[in-house]
Amino acid sequence: MQASQQKTTPNNGKAALSDVSELRRRAKEHLEGGAVTPSYSADKEMVIRLLNEALATEIVCTLRYRHHYFVAEGLAAESIKQEFLKHAQEEQAHADQISERIVQLGGDPNFDPEELADRSHAEYGTHNNDLAEMLRDDLVAERVAIESYREMIAYVGSDDSTTRRMLEGILAVEEEHAEELASMLASILRSGKIVT
Ligand SMILES: [Fe+2]
Ligand SMILES: [Fe+2]
Repeated sequence: MQASQQKTTPNNGKAALSDVSELRRRAKEHLEGGAVTPSYSADKEMVIRLLNEALATEIVCTLRYRHHYFVAEGLAAESIKQEFLKHAQEEQAHADQISERIVQLGGDPNFDPEELADRSHAEYGTHNNDLAEMLRDDLVAERVAIESYREMIAYVGSDDSTTRRMLEGILAVEEEHAEELASMLASILRSGKIVT
C-alpha cells in the first residue's frame, strides 16, 4: 500500500542525520560564530538577552546573600550565616556559568552596576539585622528565580540544548536553596527567636 510505504520511508529515504561531509561543510561556514553553528535554531539575540537577565539576577542574589552573611554576625545564627555564605558562593558560580555561555553565544555578559537592579528578576531586599526578614527576602528571591528559570527552559526548549541543560542544573540548585530557606525559616519561627 502506498500509505504504508510512505510511512516506512520518511523524507524520501533520506537519513535522519546530515551526512558527515555536510556537517563538516556547515561547521566551516561562519567560523567567527565559535560554538554557534548554522544548525543552531534558537533566537540567539533573545537567548543572550534572557541570559543577561539571569546573570543580573544571580549577581543581585550573590550581593544579597553576602550582605546577609555579614549582618547576621552576632545574631546567634552561625549555622544560618554559613548557609548564606554557601548560597552566595553558589549564586556566584551560576553567574560565572551564565557569563561563559553568553560569551560562547557571541554576546557580552553585562556587569554594568547601573543596570543590574533593573534587569534582575529578584530584588536585593531591604531588611537589615532581622533574621526572619532576611530569610523571607531570600526565599521570595529564590522563588522568583525558580519561576523565571522554568520559563526560560520552556522558551529555549530543544533549540539550544546546551543552554537548556545549564539552566536545568541551575534550577535544581535554586530549588534546593528555597527548600533550605523554608526549613530554616520554619525552625526559627518555631524556636521563637524572632523579634519582628
Ligand atoms: Fe543561582
Ligand atoms: Fe539560589
